[in-house]
Amino acid sequence: MKTGTVVGQPMDRVDGRAKVTGGARYAAEFSPKNVAHGVLVSSWIAKGRIREIDARDAEKASGVLAVITHLNAPKVSGKSSGGDRNLLLLQDDAVQYDRQYIAVVVAETLEQATYAAELVRVVYDSDKPDYGLQEKPEDSYKPDTQLPRRESLDTSRGDFDAAFASAPVKIEQVYRTPVENHNPMEPHATTAVWDGDQLTIYDSTQGVFGDRRKIASVFGAPVENVRVLCHYTGGGFGCKGSTWAHVALAAMAAKVVKRPVKVAIKRQQMFGNVGFRPQTIQHVSLGATQDGKLVALRHAGLMHTSQFDVFVEPVAKSARFIYSCPNVKTSHRVVRQSVGTPTYMRAPGESSGSFALESAMDELAYELKIDPIELRLRNYAEMDEDKKLPYSSKSLRECYRIGAERFGWSRRNPQPRSMTQGRMLVGLGMATATYPTNRSPASALTRLMPNGNVLVQSGSQDLGTGTYTVMTQVAAETLGVPVERVRFELGDTQMPDSPGSGGSQTAASVSSAVKQACEAARRQAIRLAIADASSPLYNAAEEDVIAEGGRIYLKNNPSKGETYAALMTRKNLPNIEAKVQSKPGDERQKYSMHAFGAQFAEAHVDPDTGEARVRRFVGTFGVGRVLNAKTARSQMIGGIIYGIGMALTEETVLDERYARVVTPNLAYYHVPVNADVPEIDIVFVDENDPFVNPLGVKGIGEIGITGVAAAIANAVYHATGKRVRDLPLTPDKLL
Ligand code: MOS
Repeated sequence: MKTGTVVGQPMDRVDGRAKVTGGARYAAEFSPKNVAHGVLVSSWIAKGRIREIDARDAEKASGVLAVITHLNAPKVSGKSSGGDRNLLLLQDDAVQYDRQYIAVVVAETLEQATYAAELVRVVYDSDKPDYGLQEKPEDSYKPDTQLPRRESLDTSRGDFDAAFASAPVKIEQVYRTPVENHNPMEPHATTAVWDGDQLTIYDSTQGVFGDRRKIASVFGAPVENVRVLCHYTGGGFGCKGSTWAHVALAAMAAKVVKRPVKVAIKRQQMFGNVGFRPQTIQHVSLGATQDGKLVALRHAGLMHTSQFDVFVEPVAKSARFIYSCPNVKTSHRVVRQSVGTPTYMRAPGESSGSFALESAMDELAYELKIDPIELRLRNYAEMDEDKKLPYSSKSLRECYRIGAERFGWSRRNPQPRSMTQGRMLVGLGMATATYPTNRSPASALTRLMPNGNVLVQSGSQDLGTGTYTVMTQVAAETLGVPVERVRFELGDTQMPDSPGSGGSQTAASVSSAVKQACEAARRQAIRLAIADASSPLYNAAEEDVIAEGGRIYLKNNPSKGETYAALMTRKNLPNIEAKVQSKPGDERQKYSMHAFGAQFAEAHVDPDTGEARVRRFVGTFGVGRVLNAKTARSQMIGGIIYGIGMALTEETVLDERYARVVTPNLAYYHVPVNADVPEIDIVFVDENDPFVNPLGVKGIGEIGITGVAAAIANAVYHATGKRVRDLPLTPDKLL
């Protein structure tokens, strides 16, 4: 690949071979010398106290090294230090949610620890748990907190109440989404190794530096004493974006037994201990004129949080800017319940919120007898009316147009139940997608070596999405060296610091740092050459020199130049190195920065069984610059599949009497499998955004899921005439 054509190319994953050959080591695959195995014991009540915990039989079982309970656990602090979670770390006898860890059993082998964990006897004083959401969002608890990115819980512009009261056409509906759980292929796992007061942790995480800060705070240790490594993550989707109790408990257990300890949590334990998407009840009110102009919009969200921490799913955030409307009111409220703390789950807020708002827009389109795309175009927001800022770029019009064309929207007869295929009812639906463009400070190091190789490092993460690959491309293109010569490393707190991989910010944050570090190294090399009487570039002007194929040479006389390697060898340099921290500027004050897209679903519904299936899907997106056409397409497909699950099958069911999860595994919690996923057509529209960050990248981890559940629900309405406002769209709701 030639310079200038590396970034954006559909390059295969640089870590692909290691992954398919088993060479990639995940957190549970590190086995330091003398490692012991920890198994976490979970509570089977959701609220109450531990009256008695008897570990004697467990302690006597073969191979057992320790049984740690609240009676003998070292004193540590699980308290949030801001931005992280309050953790329950065996410090008292209180049980606050189903599956809460109440003991750690450590043994020589996993089998011994698993067996002994069954021998821990517990007697509870159990209370009636708090569970079940009431329906009035605004009567509920308003936590003293903000939404992510320091946005307020409530907003109001204009006069919603007056405008809605006098609006000629109104939609007022309540939408519900259930608890959903992240189900990455790789469950959470941690291996903890103490060496004196130095702690090394191999963790499956979306943020090695966040892990380090949290674990240091739990043990009251300086952050320098903690090193976190994570070279591969088998999926995250938000549940690995916070440091949860098992990480601290693995480190605690290692301290107690004075040996390395490995803890891999069971799939069943992921249903409550590592966050989930909270249940939501969302009130949406739309007021419009007869010709489809929105005059009033209200989106009010209610969700549950735990008894001991607050997480707010920002469901109403997009309603603030996604359509042009003078009178808008949004709010978020929570109810404390006997559940674990919810957390970020792929597009937290935008995915569940867009189900409500984009379903309501479809209902309004039917009410007005206006085409759903046309309705959205009549309310197209030319600027962000909430922040009162222009968009840095916005290609949503093109997304609607190109998507409609690819999808064959014009074939759609808007009449519900008017389209069939064989005995199947056919429906076509669409929705708008959006996700903010985030960026945080990030650092990177670039080291050119005399053998022609390049090492680039940033302590970031690759959740399986392609960080290794796209950063290799950015470095190769910036330095003008072949991609095969670049080795990009990540996942270690000893590397330059980078933000957590959440909020779709890794590509934007880390690519900026990698690009700038590579530019700095290239500049150093060029300056050395033009100051060196033995270099063919001696006395050349810096701006006349370019880099390509591992060489630096004169733009208008390519034969005049030399390789980086020749320069370093001649000058006897061990390397040329640059380390750069890259930070956002004031662009967020000047622009509203979002990716946008349009989602189109064709659903087939069996009129006899009520089974809905997605048969075709088109997603069109304006996401700024695409760093790798292949991994980017995969990301979008992944997001849409996540949305198909959200729409049709995913639901964590709690028994309301006991607040216990009754679907804690992949047999009962239905994620989509290949047979559930149709042909998915992804289109990235050309979008050049010079404002968001140096490479013009908007981030694509999350926008793919947004709007999908609504597009499918709208298609199902079109197919059946049944408006389901309560996810997922299971057959019982369609009969
Ligand atoms: Mo994402 S839900 O911000 O990891």
